[in-house]
Amino acid sequence: MPHAKWFIGGRLNVSENCLDRHLGTARENKAAIIFEGEPGDVRTITYKQLHFHVCRLAHVFENMGIQAGDRIAIYMPMVPEAVIAMLACARIGAVHTVVFGGFSPEALKDRINDCKARLVITADGGWRRGKIVELKAAVDKALENTPTVHSVLVLRRCGNPVQMKEGRDIWWHEAWEGAPNQHKAKAFDSEHPLFILYTSGSTGKPKGVLHTSAGYLLGCKMSAHYVFDIKDSDLYWCTADIGWITGHSYVVYGLMSNGATMLIYEGAPNHPQPDRFWRMVDRHGVTILYTAPTAIRAFMRWGDNYVLRHRLDSLRLLGSVGEPINPEAWMWYHTMIGKKRCPIVDTWWQTETGAIMITPLPGVTPLKPGSGTQPFFGVVPKVVDDQGKEVPRGSGGKLIITKPWPSMLRTLWGDDERYKKQYWSEFAGVYFTGDGARQDKDGYFWIVGRIDDVLNVSGHRIGTAEVESALVSHSSVAEAAAVGRPDELKGQALVCFVTLKAGIEASDKLKEELRSHVAHEIGALARPDYIRFASGLPKTRSGKIMRRILKEIATGGEIKGDTSTLEDFSVVASLQSDEE
Ligand code: WT7
Repeated sequence: MPHAKWFIGGRLNVSENCLDRHLGTARENKAAIIFEGEPGDVRTITYKQLHFHVCRLAHVFENMGIQAGDRIAIYMPMVPEAVIAMLACARIGAVHTVVFGGFSPEALKDRINDCKARLVITADGGWRRGKIVELKAAVDKALENTPTVHSVLVLRRCGNPVQMKEGRDIWWHEAWEGAPNQHKAKAFDSEHPLFILYTSGSTGKPKGVLHTSAGYLLGCKMSAHYVFDIKDSDLYWCTADIGWITGHSYVVYGLMSNGATMLIYEGAPNHPQPDRFWRMVDRHGVTILYTAPTAIRAFMRWGDNYVLRHRLDSLRLLGSVGEPINPEAWMWYHTMIGKKRCPIVDTWWQTETGAIMITPLPGVTPLKPGSGTQPFFGVVPKVVDDQGKEVPRGSGGKLIITKPWPSMLRTLWGDDERYKKQYWSEFAGVYFTGDGARQDKDGYFWIVGRIDDVLNVSGHRIGTAEVESALVSHSSVAEAAAVGRPDELKGQALVCFVTLKAGIEASDKLKEELRSHVAHEIGALARPDYIRFASGLPKTRSGKIMRRILKEIATGGEIKGDTSTLEDFSVVASLQSDEE
């Protein structure tokens, strides 16, 4: 540790394990993907067809001169070609980095430059709430400052007009015209990098979490098999976008390696009506549904009537991921969606862990609403105090994992120092998750949430430092501090305290402008919910912003704990008297 390796000397091809292994079996002509676009278009792709697609794209990559180890950025809507692109990268040993289509050109540019991608794969656009999200235009903007990118492959999805840059941009359908539909997969080392996925941490710069091949694949294959109890007769639907780790592990790698049939959906859950999910469950006969608490709470708010018009009798298992699920949402999910018939697997894990770590096994583990229950096979978590000593049952503490596991991240791309510091230095020799937790008297784990400077807004991980640096990049802003406050729908809402430069007038218009500015810099998911102008921010004598105090002000609670290190208490007093 902290550089664990698994299956040393072993070799495999991850795409072969997801595709070729099913050929020549009863799964060959079974649906791998049933796709529904937001406009309602449906396509079914069998394992054999998916194999053809992936082989062709692998040839396209090779013809472009892409080699094993090269990085490819994928910035696509949630369409089958996004999955095909990932698997084709794996086939030739190229390392994909999927960037969620909701991220801004600026965020895309930073990620491309950090990993020095040579190729970007995108689409003209994707459908979202009846509108086209213009992905190619965003790529064009990002690529103004990305010296390593030499080609862009563009899928035609929406048919919106795009500019194709001569010598750089190629249409997907033209590039693979005539490419052979067979491709001999080479075996790569068990520790060959499979993908980099950027996620937020406690500094302004996102972390490039690196996952490798054999251990990662084992982790997601085995957990998908046991936690989702996947059978050939199932239709499994994970509502996550492939831009997140959930989409990597539990749409693509964990499910395809099990030969599962999955549904993928392009658009919004409330388009054209808030019953879209339930309509789709009935239309296709979904048996397993894996979604996020924030989505469940949104459905609760939209009203039971949208659910009650559908039968939902095909469902047999429900899953939850992304944040702690509040018992009220759990009960609603259980009764309204699962009709008290379906177990709920509340799965705790992280981008870094690669695969599910704490989870019930459906039909085996007695459930408690709100608890992820017990560790998965081979996972040894503990709840400890600041000294690393295990706390008694019932007490809160920090969640650590004391033994390496096959699907753990191997490093942070290009920054092994940060990797060691971030995960392995809080307590010597053990992995620190960044989460707070407690174990109850039965040994069940209850996750409290992040205890570092990372927020979980609607299941999306947002670093406060990233938001702050976006704010101070605006010409009116002198200083900024971002904190979370509990929110019924989003889990946490993003509250930003801003001090303005001298001579700048505070106004509602400026608030709006700053919110849009952050959305523009990072992506709409990071748009602040509230901005509060302040004449000063509470700081320690050494100048460090005391976020703990701002959090208490944002929640409207009284200031608890030690304020003796505060430089100037009048700043706090004025913030408190100046409620929104
Ligand atoms: C953080 C990881 C893992 C895929 C989605 C998010 C929180 C995740 C749960 C859960 C309580 C959860 C944790 C974790 N989290 N699942 N079932 N119960 N909290 O991946 O963006 O890497 O975020 O999400 O705080 O550290 P991520």
